[in-house]
Amino acid sequence: MARVFVTRTYPAEVLDALSAHEVVLRDKTTPASRDTLIAALRDHDAILPTLGDMFPADLLKAAGPIRARLLANFGVGYNHIDVAAARAHGLAVTNTPGVLTDATADLALTLILATARRAGEGERLVRAGNWQGWHPTELLGMQVTGRTVGIIGMGRIGEAIARRCHFGFGMEVVFYNRSAKSPDVPARQLDSIEAVARAADIVVVAVPGGAETHHLVGAGTLAAMGPHAILVNIARGDVVDEAALIAALEAGQIAGAGLDVYEHEPAVPEALRRMENVTLLPHLGSATLETRVAMGLKAVENILALFDGKPLVSPV
Ligand code: DGY
Repeated sequence: MARVFVTRTYPAEVLDALSAHEVVLRDKTTPASRDTLIAALRDHDAILPTLGDMFPADLLKAAGPIRARLLANFGVGYNHIDVAAARAHGLAVTNTPGVLTDATADLALTLILATARRAGEGERLVRAGNWQGWHPTELLGMQVTGRTVGIIGMGRIGEAIARRCHFGFGMEVVFYNRSAKSPDVPARQLDSIEAVARAADIVVVAVPGGAETHHLVGAGTLAAMGPHAILVNIARGDVVDEAALIAALEAGQIAGAGLDVYEHEPAVPEALRRMENVTLLPHLGSATLETRVAMGLKAVENILALFDGKPLVSPV
C-alpha cells in the first residue's frame, strides 16, 4: 500500500478518493513546517501539498535520499516549489489547471465591480451604522459597463476574465501576453504592459507567479495607468511591486486597487488596510466548494496515475 502525505485539511471527497492508500493527514489550515515536509519526503511515496508549503532547493537537498516521487500540488500556481530542484531529486510535480478558471475569473469580476463601485466603502458605512440615507452624490464610483479592461496574461484565466468583461459588460478588451494569442473573444493584443496600462481603465493581472513575473507590474506601469484607473490582482502578490503600488495609491496616480493576493501573504501592509479605495480579499480566487473539490480530485488523479504506473495527468 502506498503512503500519501496530505499537508492540509481538504474537503472530505478528496481524502475519500485516496481511500485505497494509506493517507497521513496533517489536518491543519496552516502551511507545513520545513521539518514536517522533510520528514514527509523521506517517509511517503507522494505528497499532496498546496500554496504556502514551501519546497525550495535547499529543503530538497537537506531531505537527503527521499522516498517520495511526486508533489501533487493542490492549485494551479506552483511558485512555492522549486520544480527544477524537485526534478533533480527524482520528484515529479503536478498542478491543477483548468478546474479553477471560472471561480478565479468570477473573483476578478468581483474585485473589478467592488472596487469600481466602492462596494467595500459602502458596506463599511452601513455596517458601522453611519449611513445617513440616499443622496445624489454619495459614493460615486466608476461605471464598469463599456469601459476598457486591460488583461496582463492571456492564459486560461485571463481569457475567462476577458469573456466576462466583453459579453457581460460590453467592455473593450486589450491585453499583453508574452507570446501571440488569439482569445475566443474580441480583444486587441498590445506589445507592452505599459501600452495596456495606458489604454485601459481597469488593469487585471492574471499571469503565473515565479521568478519570471516578479514585480512585472511596477512604478512605470502604475504611472502609465492614470488617475482614473483601477488595478486588480488575482495572480500572485509579488507580480505587483507592492511598495510601488502603495506609493501610486498614496500619490493618487491610480484611482484604486482590488487585491486578492499580497507580496508576503498573509501579511497585508497597514498602508493598504487603511485605504478606502482598495478592496482587500484573503486569496479567495478558487474558494468555492465545487472548485476546491475539483482541485483536490485533480491532485488525487495524478497521485493515482503515479501509483498505477500511468502517465501523470497534469505534470508541470
Ligand atoms: C492557485 O491555484 O494557484 C491559487 O492561487 C490557489 O487557489
